[in-house]
Amino acid sequence: MAHILHIDSSPRAERSHSRSLTHRFVTDWKNAHPQDTVTYRDLGHQPVPHVDEPWIAAAYSAPETHTPELQKAISTSNTLIDELLAADRYVFGIPMYNLNIPSTFKAYIDQIVRVGRTFAINEQGYQGLVSGKKMLVITSSGGSFRPGTPMGGYNFQEPFLKAIFGFIGITDITFINADNLDSGGDEGRKESLTEASNAISQAIANW
Ligand SMILES: Cc1cc2nc3c(=O)[nH]c(=O)nc-3n(C[C@H](O)[C@H](O)[C@H](O)COP(=O)(O)O)c2cc1C
Repeated sequence: MAHILHIDSSPRAERSHSRSLTHRFVTDWKNAHPQDTVTYRDLGHQPVPHVDEPWIAAAYSAPETHTPELQKAISTSNTLIDELLAADRYVFGIPMYNLNIPSTFKAYIDQIVRVGRTFAINEQGYQGLVSGKKMLVITSSGGSFRPGTPMGGYNFQEPFLKAIFGFIGITDITFINADNLDSGGDEGRKESLTEASNAISQAIANW
């Protein structure tokens, strides 16, 4: 039995492709694995705060020294990290915004990448503390940034997500990208969504 953390980050509701694809995945996954449990977080509609000065002071000092102000400043981060660590698998829906992830998802990453909680610094250097997890990231983009194409080098979304989650120890990451959703016309969008849908069916069988 696995516990899944499902996160969406598009600010759009019914119009969001990433959102509808993650929901399709989780619904089909639950049908195939009814015993699995899911926690849902909607960063698109309930964003988490940006880190601020009290947050930084709290993150880099011992919890037993924290004043009530610092305890409060770090409490959302603690909740988000507990939630992340409690899950075995992650399903994230992330649109491409200006060649990268939306700022709502970056704010989330800033909350969960924390020394002593999700990574450590020791004699060997940095060490990820989040091990044994699997991640599925479903991205959506208006254009296309496939490797080997002229725009391939402009995709900072997938390399960044691999790097930052790898940094905290999550290296088993599957990406499904629904691309061409705006610039490919109705035909391009349909083709891309069919491809993403097939990739989801494959992931249900093999993940
Ligand atoms: C602020 C903003 C920035 C965007 N930047 C890009 C971009 O750099 N490249 C791209 O291909 N599409 C870009 N798009 C288009 C979205 O990636 C596309 O509409 C996608 O479907 C959004 O995800 P959603 O359908 O889940 O809301 C941008 C859209 C917005 C609103």
